[in-house]
Amino acid sequence: MTEATALARIPRHVAIIMDGNGRWARARGQPRLAGHRAGTRNIRRVLKACASCGVEVLTIYAFSTENWGRPSAEVRGLMRLLEQALTEQLAELHAEGVQIRHSGSLERVSESLSKAIQEALELTKDNQRIILNVAFNYGGRAEIMNAVRRIIADGIAAEEVNEDLFTRYLHTAGLPDPDLIIRTAGEMRLSNFLIWQGAYAEYYSIPTYWPDFDQEELRKALEAYAARERRFGRLKNR
Ligand code: IPE
Ligand code: IPE
Ligand code: MG
Repeated sequence: MTEATALARIPRHVAIIMDGNGRWARARGQPRLAGHRAGTRNIRRVLKACASCGVEVLTIYAFSTENWGRPSAEVRGLMRLLEQALTEQLAELHAEGVQIRHSGSLERVSESLSKAIQEALELTKDNQRIILNVAFNYGGRAEIMNAVRRIIADGIAAEEVNEDLFTRYLHTAGLPDPDLIIRTAGEMRLSNFLIWQGAYAEYYSIPTYWPDFDQEELRKALEAYAARERRFGRLKNR
């Protein structure tokens, strides 16, 4: 990876829709879970590359609220892989100064995985090197519905509800909005990912399957981002 200074502008928050594990496996004549295993392994590599470029927050879409609709063996396999990765890598991630956050719900998630997630959040909460925000059992619509319910339950008056307050009720409270949303494996859709927070994110989609997305692919994405002009509805260069 080239130095951070080589790029004119580094996104503070990069979010990735890690897609294509299944197709990666099929292309090798392997079962889908082999793709998920390779995909899970790849997270570390991309996290390190992001940290060394000066990215402050990396959000990864690991499991959507809609992914429960997959065959139960695949769902179980995905849960097992995440739990394994968390338990095996937590000490190292902590030592590297990674702060782990979770966006999503723990509903329907097994007790042992819920515990592993809570432990990881608690252990790493003061770390400062980079934030790894794991969107797990996450759906943008569910997140917004949940925020609305909690705002009502807190008895907040209609006139007090504004964008700032609303943002504080989302799972991503306290995090900057994503500047760059990358989707691997070629699809051109959001699949319910960060639909509020991504309102002005720059989108970048590439055909590469997630397990093959490496430092070089990240560099290309960051270069594309640096070359974009963000206008936020205003006019050029104002
Ligand atoms: C992304 O890979 C991982 C998850 C959605 C959990 P896919 O499993 O969606 O891979 P494809 O899209 O079938 O290739
Ligand atoms: C999005 O990928 C969810 C994750 C990467 C976790 P999907 O493979 O589930 O999305 P669709 O079904 O192609 O929209
Ligand atoms: Mg997919």
